[in-house]
This record gives sequence, structure tokens and C-alpha cells, in this order.
Amino acid sequence: MPNRPWCILSRQTVSIATVPKDSFNREIDYLRISLTDRCNLRCVYCMPLNGLRFCSNGELLTAAEIETVVRAALRSGFRKFRLTGGEPTLRPDLLEIVQRLAALGGVRDLALTTNAILMARLARPLKDAGLRRVNVHLDSLNPATVERQMRWGTLADIWKGLAACEEAGLTPIKLNAVVAAGYNENEVADLAQLTLERDWHVRFIELMPLGGGECARLAMQRYVSNIETRRRIEEALGPLAPLEASSPSDESRNFRLPNARGVVGFISPVSEPYCGTCNRMRLTADGKFHLCLLNDDELDVRQVLRSGAHDAEERVAQILLKAVQVKPTGHHLLEGRSTEHRSMFQIGG
Ligand code: 5AD
Ligand code: SF4
Repeated sequence: MPNRPWCILSRQTVSIATVPKDSFNREIDYLRISLTDRCNLRCVYCMPLNGLRFCSNGELLTAAEIETVVRAALRSGFRKFRLTGGEPTLRPDLLEIVQRLAALGGVRDLALTTNAILMARLARPLKDAGLRRVNVHLDSLNPATVERQMRWGTLADIWKGLAACEEAGLTPIKLNAVVAAGYNENEVADLAQLTLERDWHVRFIELMPLGGGECARLAMQRYVSNIETRRRIEEALGPLAPLEASSPSDESRNFRLPNARGVVGFISPVSEPYCGTCNRMRLTADGKFHLCLLNDDELDVRQVLRSGAHDAEERVAQILLKAVQVKPTGHHLLEGRSTEHRSMFQIGG
């Protein structure tokens, strides 16, 4: 470990470490933390209905272990954190996790990706615990399409959850819609239209094949390019005016419809890869740094966390800096290669 100055802010020890760079000179300061691989939905491109094996409770990192990883990340220069799943609201100790992380000095952003099914009762307590904002996954405004594409969810439940998020001030609300041919591809303009009246970000995500199973096959067969999605939206609602990127590592290309309050975004890992500005590291629910969403490379931290070592936090920081150093340059989707060993619900997007 290089020598680093440390300062004490309130009760917390906080590093003023500089942001780490990987071997391609990308600044990596954003950690996405998967809290569980379980989900209360079964989106067609994400989780098969049969044959799933989930982590046992003992395999999942505990709230205290997650806090240790985040402390290690802060002292390594990380600043932004997002809780993901599966569905992170299924963790019974989610409020405790948010409280622990929000109390650490140096956390610049703390967000959650959710399907919002449970947010009607969780939004307010999560906001009070220190959560800043949410990304909500919703593929359609047509109840029948939601039930077909996201399977176990209903539009009514997701909408109630969304309303609760907005009321609690978990803003700006960002909606993520994954576009799949034969499912919601003809309904994208209805979603984009939400931005006319609301200051939400509605983002369209291209399907990615992960995990090699039936969902990966569906993702390849049902892929719709965002070029096509954009064309559909403009045809229905008028020209999209480009907006300046809020940060160079924003994976979403953002636009505004005429006279709209909100933002329409396109996340296009296949047609317009953004690997060159990637700032992310991922932690799987069972305690591995997953170096790139679409590659299999991982480094384990759970063993160190459970070793009883007095300097576990320092050792996790060393593993994290190593993970940054060996982060792959990008994905190889166009050559037909992706992750084989992990699916999206095990990594958290
Ligand atoms: N391709 C693209 N996006 C996906 N998501 C889940 N599976 C896929 C896939 N195969 C998105 C969902 C979820 C986020 C974590 O990733 O929008 O909210
Ligand atoms: Fe659950 Fe999200 Fe996967 Fe849908 S995409 S099954 S909501 S983890």
C-alpha cells in the first residue's frame, strides 16, 4: 500500500486518497454492491423460472462485512456506491446496511437499483436511513406487457412503489427499461412520454446476453438496437435534443423531448459500447470483486473478511486496488463472448 494521509471527520476515519486508476488510465471510483441474488420478479431476460440455485444466507456477506468493504473502498479512493441485487429490498437488513454506509464520511453518492415492488413501505425508511436516490426497473406501462416480460410483478405494485420513492424524495427518479423484441419494443414511446410531465430520467437499455443459459439466448434473439428505439420515440414524440453529459462516465446518452421536463436516456452497451469511460467495480453478494460486467474475472474478499485478521479492512483495500489494476479493457460481445459463470441477477447490472 502506498502511504496515504488520513484525516478524522466526525467519528469516522476517512482517507483523502486519490481516485485509483486502472491500467487503461480509467478512474475507478464507483462500487456496485449486490446484496442478494434473489428476486421477487422473474424478468424473461434475467432469471429463468426453473433450475436456479441461490446463495445460502451463510454465503452472503453480512451487513458488517459490507461495511468493511466500503470502508476499504473509501480509503482506496472510491466515492460512489450503489446497492443492487437480484432485488436488494429482499434483504431483511437493508435499512441497517444503508444506515451503516450513510454514516461513513466520504460517501458522495449512495443509490439503490430496485424493481420498486416493496418500495411502497420502504421508501420513507430508506430515505431516513440515508439513501439518496433510486433507479427503478420498469419495462412497460401496459399491465399485460409487464406481466409477460417481468413475469411475477404487476404494474400497479411497481407504480405504487415509484410514487412512494418520489414522495420520499429519492430523486431524481431514474427508470430503466430493457427493450426486447416481441415484448415491449412497440411501447417505448409511452415510457418516453412520461418525461413530458415529470422530471424523471427514462432510460432504455439494450439487452445483453449473460450467463450462457436460456436468458442469454433470449437476449440474443430479442435484441433491439437503441438506434431503433430512438427512431420509434422520435417518430411518435418529435426530435430528441442531445444534452451535455453530466459526467464523462455516465453510461447513458441523454436527450430531451420538445418542452419536456425530464430526460430520455439510451444505455447502449452493444451498439455504442462505453467501456472506454467505465468507472465501475462490482461486488457480488457472495463477496467477490467482479471486474467487468461482461467478463468472468473475479477476486475473492470473503475469505479475508472471515479470516479473523485484525487488518481485514487494509487487506480488502489491497485486493480492491489489485482488482482495479487488472480490470479488463472491455467486453467482447461483438465477438460473441460474454460472462459464462454469472448471470445478471448475480452481478446486479
Ligand atoms: N440485459 C440488459 N439489462 C438487463 N437488466 C437485467 N438483465 C438484463 C439484460 N440481460 C437490467 C435491469 C435491471 C438492471 C440491474 O439490469 O434493468 O434493473
Ligand atoms: Fe429481478 Fe431485476 Fe432480474 Fe427483473 S431484471 S428478475 S427485477 S433482478
